[in-house]
Amino acid sequence: MTIKVKKAVIPVAGLGTRLLPATKTVPKEMLPIVDTPSIQYVVEEAFDSGLTEMIFVTARGKDSLEDHFDFAPELEQVLEQRGNTEMLEKLQSISTMIDVVSVRQKKPLGLGHAVLSARNLVGNEPFAVLLSDDIVDDPTPCVRQLLNIYEEKGESVVALRRVPRPDVKRYGIIQGREIEPRTHAIDAMVEKPDPKDAPSELAIVGRYVLHPDIFGCLERVKPGKGGEIQLTDAMADLNRQRKFYGYEFTGEHYDIGDKLGFVRATVAYALKRPDLAGPLKEFLRTIA
Ligand code: G1P
Repeated sequence: MTIKVKKAVIPVAGLGTRLLPATKTVPKEMLPIVDTPSIQYVVEEAFDSGLTEMIFVTARGKDSLEDHFDFAPELEQVLEQRGNTEMLEKLQSISTMIDVVSVRQKKPLGLGHAVLSARNLVGNEPFAVLLSDDIVDDPTPCVRQLLNIYEEKGESVVALRRVPRPDVKRYGIIQGREIEPRTHAIDAMVEKPDPKDAPSELAIVGRYVLHPDIFGCLERVKPGKGGEIQLTDAMADLNRQRKFYGYEFTGEHYDIGDKLGFVRATVAYALKRPDLAGPLKEFLRTIA
């Protein structure tokens, strides 16, 4: 039995306070890594993984995200007049390729609440969640790696990464057993534990493929860490009823919600561009 997952929920309602003042008027998801807004890397990862319906959970001030995946007739006309067909095609392919629907998260009540806001658009089918603060670079898109497991097992899967013990307080942490190389059967999950209480150093990174029963759990779950409705708490509840897996994904992970992570991603992605790699390496040598 193969279950085809089609929908990607992408929460983009956050204020991005860690990247102020840049995010005072520009949504953090529109800040560019080299020349491409970070949201585009995330949406392309979803698309390249076979997900065809993008559901943004937005808030006031985030309209530019939807505009970015729409056509821009005036701009396209100017590019056509100037004969810049390469950029014209690039822009048009973004808008042709991706269909975005959006729903507003009316109150900032946490990640779990953001995902619950998408319930009517998702319906009773499995779906992926991609957090735009996490960028993962790998030939096999991170969420595709999780979908492979969901398609085989029919149960929820989260992306995992080992982190140093002091950092566990920044993540959802799992307790589990490695049943196949990289694949863990999860027994428990806890949101941002104290390092001394954490059940492991396996952290949840912002990629999930979830069974639709998660919505019932999200409706029932009480506010947790920080007084917010936590996705991790709802997943822990779902895990009491159904199997739940974690996968230590392959690839380079960047937390771009963090200043250093954002700069690291910018440098790494610039070094992957043939036109920039040479001169940038040269420059880095002179300043390091
Ligand atoms: C969220 C989740 C956390 C997860 C993290 C991954 O936290 O609540 O469980 O480990 O994303 O990036 P946030 O970074 O939004 O505080």
